[in-house]
Amino acid sequence: MSGKPKFYLTTPIYYTNGLPHIGHTYTTVVADVIRRFKRMRGYEVLMTTGTDEHGVNVERAARNAGIAESEFVARMADAWRALWDELGLSAEEFVRTTDLRHVRTVQWLFKQCKENGYVYKGHYTGLYCIYDNLFVNEPKPGNLCPDCDRPLEMLTEENYFFKLSAFQKPLMDFYRKNPDFIQPETRRNEILSFVEGGLKDLSITRTTVRWGIPVPSEEPHVFYVWFDALTAYLTAVGGPEHEKRGFWPCDLHLVGKDIIRFHTVYWPAFLMAAMVPLPKQVWAHGWFLMDDKKMSKSKGQVVLPRPIANMLGADALRYFLLREVVFGQDGNFSYEALVTRYNSDLANGLGNLASRTAAMIEKNFVGRIPKAGKLQPQDEALAKETQSAIGDVLEHFEALSFARALEGIWAIIAAADKYLTTEKPWSLGDSEDDVQRKTNVLATTAELLRIVTVLAHPVLPDSTAKIWTLLGQPGKVSDIELDGLRWGQLKTGVQLGVAQTLFPRVEKNEAIERMESMTNEELNPAPGPAPAASATATSGGAAVASAPAATEKIAIEDFAKVEMRVGQIKTAERIVGADKLLKLTVDIGTEIRQVCAGIAQYYAPETLIGRKVAVVTNLAPRKLRGVESNGMIIAASVGPEGRPVLAGFHEDVEIGSRLK
Ligand code: MSP
Repeated sequence: MSGKPKFYLTTPIYYTNGLPHIGHTYTTVVADVIRRFKRMRGYEVLMTTGTDEHGVNVERAARNAGIAESEFVARMADAWRALWDELGLSAEEFVRTTDLRHVRTVQWLFKQCKENGYVYKGHYTGLYCIYDNLFVNEPKPGNLCPDCDRPLEMLTEENYFFKLSAFQKPLMDFYRKNPDFIQPETRRNEILSFVEGGLKDLSITRTTVRWGIPVPSEEPHVFYVWFDALTAYLTAVGGPEHEKRGFWPCDLHLVGKDIIRFHTVYWPAFLMAAMVPLPKQVWAHGWFLMDDKKMSKSKGQVVLPRPIANMLGADALRYFLLREVVFGQDGNFSYEALVTRYNSDLANGLGNLASRTAAMIEKNFVGRIPKAGKLQPQDEALAKETQSAIGDVLEHFEALSFARALEGIWAIIAAADKYLTTEKPWSLGDSEDDVQRKTNVLATTAELLRIVTVLAHPVLPDSTAKIWTLLGQPGKVSDIELDGLRWGQLKTGVQLGVAQTLFPRVEKNEAIERMESMTNEELNPAPGPAPAASATATSGGAAVASAPAATEKIAIEDFAKVEMRVGQIKTAERIVGADKLLKLTVDIGTEIRQVCAGIAQYYAPETLIGRKVAVVTNLAPRKLRGVESNGMIIAASVGPEGRPVLAGFHEDVEIGSRLK
């Protein structure tokens, strides 16, 4: 037992008939920021996410993919989990609704509701699509299926019903007693008027769906997907034994506005019926739109998180999502706004403040953090401004007003920039007075930077950890207790740590083009198998010939199709957002080509200039991590890691000579 107060928060569990886009990432990022913030406020935090794997849509998607449902959902769950890992967003608990522990919890919850008299058997009659296997609430004119346009049929099926109607009054009483249960206020009003309008009983099992959790001894009944999915929040913290772990009732369910009714009407009603304590709060955020429209993968109108994280870093993605829109409202996503904010707030703002402060301390104090002497009024004013911002920023975070919290932090950064511009420590000389002044100005700036680093940590975990190291401060920034954060705690006399790149400035058009191009690569992966030589963007293993011996023989005419020439490397540079790739320009005799090669981890760019290499010159051009590659450099793939070793020549060969 840690003795710390517990805090339990959840994201929705995501449907497995598709892969995550920026909208899903948004909910998970918000949950992660709250998790880190609460930890720094002394809580033991548990975060749950997962995958919602049952229902007709999954059945259909698996059929389209030509594999069994269980195989399909396993692959999808892996893909979701992998993305969260990659973005640093893994939760303590990941519930798959096909997990046995979850199946047991759903069956248990149903039993409780039934034993308490809130479940009865009845019949449901409605318009049904026999092709898609689903009841349709809003048919197209002429009673056609909105999905497949085929005629619907009136069908009656046996269902178990949940007595939702019995909970109108208990729910209204609960909302009144717990005015903060539904957030924000507008959503609360919406739900209150919905419940006031009366509640109909809800069918919670299906006999027309196959891919679901079976109702014990009642085959072919399976549970309705929402009865199944909502229960995942309980599964994560012990299911029927939720009391043992001490995380239930849940402190915060984070959801999108589209699923608020399920969370604030059905879910508390199920729990009341089962006599399980109710969650404390449900917070509905708005949607990220593209050109004011809902994102749609099928229309290609979608923003993916990975290309942004590759290009600008996961921290930049997090910052943008939280800074750009008021939490709770809808917002438009635009790459233009993303890159503008990146360059202004992160590269020029925080990144620049950190690197120039460190550079001045390095130059003037041999890299040791100076200790302030007697401060002047302008130093004290900045200290006061920063100190008073701390409380405001913490309050904004606590209220989930992320944009305002970040505004508050960036106002301090702006104040520091202004202070440096006025004080001009770089123009001071070596007289005793000047040195004293430099000491105070840089000590003041370093202390401000330390406070900014701590406050921004929940949103920018990677970069603030780097700044913490740079400032030579002891321990980890994530271990700092926010409630004890004050001006004057900077550890002085310590040596600056290693400077690492924070937010390199990017050229707007190029960055946008590359992110769009990476999105395209991810949505339309290149067909066929992807050995290292085919330079898949994910492996980043561009242009390295793969080792496996071909068992099949090819004719000489086949080999003759490949045009290989001697090329000479003219320039070589690293690519931001692609650690494995180098961008080369290669003279192949008739022209100079741009070629990307997956050798960045083994060859320093400057060592390659002038080197003669073998180049495949008649490959169709393609983009790797958004950068055009027009050809391929031949390399051996050595050892279990496939270390690339460039093919070369022991005698001098003329540039452009053909390899045969
Ligand atoms: N499986 C259900 C949730 C069950 S929870 C017991 C579901 N899944 S979902 O994958 O469709 O959506 C999950 C979350 O992503 C929802 O909160 C939804 O609001 C959010 N978003 C999906 N697209 C979004 C945007 N474009 N913008 C912001 N969030 C959006 O619903």
